[in-house]
Amino acid sequence: MHPALNIAVKAARQAGTVITRAFGRLEDVKVATKGNNDFVSEVDQRAEAAIIQVIRQAYPDHAILAEEGGASDGNDYCWIIDPLDGTTNFLHGFPQFAVSIALRHQSEIEQAVIYDPISQELFTASRGGGAFCNQRRLRVSSAKGLNGTLLGTGFPFRDFAYLDEYLACFRALLLKTSGIRRPGSAALDLAYVAAGRLDGFWEIGLKPWDMAAGALLIQEAGGMVSDFSGGNAYLERGQVVAGTPRVFQEILQEIKPLLPEALLNPKQAANPL
Ligand code: IPD
Ligand code: CA
Ligand code: CA
Repeated sequence: MHPALNIAVKAARQAGTVITRAFGRLEDVKVATKGNNDFVSEVDQRAEAAIIQVIRQAYPDHAILAEEGGASDGNDYCWIIDPLDGTTNFLHGFPQFAVSIALRHQSEIEQAVIYDPISQELFTASRGGGAFCNQRRLRVSSAKGLNGTLLGTGFPFRDFAYLDEYLACFRALLLKTSGIRRPGSAALDLAYVAAGRLDGFWEIGLKPWDMAAGALLIQEAGGMVSDFSGGNAYLERGQVVAGTPRVFQEILQEIKPLLPEALLNPKQAANPL
């Protein structure tokens, strides 16, 4: 295992311990509101502190972009961290959430870890080295088109500016597939695409830490990832389409005609939500 991936795994497992301990006594967890339907708990913060401590000890010169603590400067390497992806699920005792850690070098994601502390599934990928779940090599599903597929998505819940457009895409895809799921942790949803459990995924209004690790997992498992215009700016633009090569193409084909210019034109303001 690449040494940086090893550090990411160690950090993710420590965060996982913080999260599972607190999951057993949710009534004691202190919660604050960051914005509309956007919560942060002391568990998010403690899990993030545990991750950053492990990373800083190993790589004091690296930059960090973490959901709760924000950005701190460093060299060309940047750790992109979501200490608890799926906070709303966590706070409701709904056991679908994960730790997501990625290492970016310049513009490329090089290492990725997504850890589900409940199922203890550890998803890992290194650029060029494949994607794995607990040592088992991952491949995206063999789906050759939307017919018969199971897709994942995230419903808008913080900002409803593009709700009608989102629902139009939802309708179009619902009519072409076997079903759509909204599990509630974008990072884990992307890991499930890499694992072939979902054939494709799309969402708007995401942040880099929701997607960075999952995108590398999917690419290393033979899948495709892009923004809504088919370009590479998904981390900057907060929108993602992913899937097996054919499912990915067909999702894009279905949703592009339903989306406004503001969501398709890469020159428009980044991450409108
Ligand atoms: C959220 C989850 C959710 C997605 C949201 C994210 P958080 O992350 O990934 O699935 O729909 O957009 O913000 O806030 O629980 O870390
Ligand atoms: Ca998140
Ligand atoms: Ca989070």
